[in-house]
Amino acid sequence: MLALASRRALPLAARLPRAAAAPAVARAKSTWASVAAGPPDAILGVTEAFKRDTDKRKINLGVGAYRDQDGKPYVLPSVRKAEEQVLAALWDKEYLPITGLANFTANAAKLAYGGASAPLSEGRVAITQSISGTGALRIGGEFLARHFPGNKTIFLPTPSWGNHTPIFKDSGLEVKQYRYYNKETVGLDLEGLLADLKAAPENSIVLLHACAHNPTGVDPTREDWKRISEVVKEKNHFPFFDMAYQGFASGDTDADAYALRYFVEQGHQVALSQSFAKNMGLYGERVGAFSLVCADGDEKARVDSQLKIVVRPLYSNPPVHGARIAGTILDDPTLNAQWLDEVKGMADRINGMRAELKTLLVDDLGSKQNWDHITNQIGMFAFLGISPEQVAKLVNEHHVYLTKDGRISVAGITRHNIKHLASALHAVTS
Ligand SMILES: Cc1ncc(COP(=O)(O)O)c(C=O)c1O
Repeated sequence: MLALASRRALPLAARLPRAAAAPAVARAKSTWASVAAGPPDAILGVTEAFKRDTDKRKINLGVGAYRDQDGKPYVLPSVRKAEEQVLAALWDKEYLPITGLANFTANAAKLAYGGASAPLSEGRVAITQSISGTGALRIGGEFLARHFPGNKTIFLPTPSWGNHTPIFKDSGLEVKQYRYYNKETVGLDLEGLLADLKAAPENSIVLLHACAHNPTGVDPTREDWKRISEVVKEKNHFPFFDMAYQGFASGDTDADAYALRYFVEQGHQVALSQSFAKNMGLYGERVGAFSLVCADGDEKARVDSQLKIVVRPLYSNPPVHGARIAGTILDDPTLNAQWLDEVKGMADRINGMRAELKTLLVDDLGSKQNWDHITNQIGMFAFLGISPEQVAKLVNEHHVYLTKDGRISVAGITRHNIKHLASALHAVTS
């Protein structure tokens, strides 16, 4: 004690050991000297290139975030109202339970599975709040890698959202592909899809985009879903739905949940990832949920306990603010109705841009190409079906930025840039 007290009385420089005051010898080699630079993120790379471009006509159609008719980020008025309510309630900032805010997860499950869902009314849906859709997929991947009794391989559509492969590989699952997109028709390769699911080993995991497939915007029809469900059942596969765009695809949250609800009705025990990034515009708040349909309440309780064991060492418990906003919107009938209207408004603006782009290309510019896929596809993205060379021309000669696969975010098209986009597309395709 005495020694410590007298050390404290000395000036700081005198207390420091010599080596710390002036390192005598530099390390021979940095600890991280052999770390190789990783490749840049494909989508963020598009934004970087866009930022460097000084041309006034430049358009960024790379990022998957909604923009209003003037190209500005959009905070939904229902979100603003819910946030005011959350602030006025003067809640504390205590930790949430490991599986999150119960009022939010119960309402999220109802939104996805529907008010009349049998597994919900029978209390056999295990659910946890997650760090948006990405976190939900990761929790699902971790849970399946530990507990799925079948073939621990997840089959992804070709193409799929770029983050699916690393998420599931990092979770410890093997990742393989099934055919999805037909380049010739710029549509769904249903026969290829069914053949690949049939050829996959019995009891594999199949990732399905519930609606608004990213990146193609090509969704199966209701008749197609019926056939997919039959093959999944026949092969005893396990369907894992990724629903990142509920409401965003058609403007109707029930219609967009059709495939999920149909599979549940058909007796599949599904896994589900939900995101509120797009449909509530809560991108940075990171609000999502992961759920599993169980056989009964007892199984649900056991699954819940294992979900907690997955989450606890990952991030302990989820953030509270965004979940309070989403929970308030889902729980309050007036706010909920307003939100549904606003989701429809976003979907309608996107669909309006699709129709206008096609009209400009075909009617105004006289393009001889078939552009029907622009209006047949659904959701935030349009897969143009153009070559990498045409993409490079769009970027380098016309200042239109998009991913190399020819995907554009329709949400980034506005009344101000649509004419330039149409003439650029026409120029590189004729
Ligand atoms: C298909 C798909 N799944 C999941 C996500 C996850 O997004 P977030 O983590 O922002 O909710 C996205 C986002 O673009 C997506 O397109």
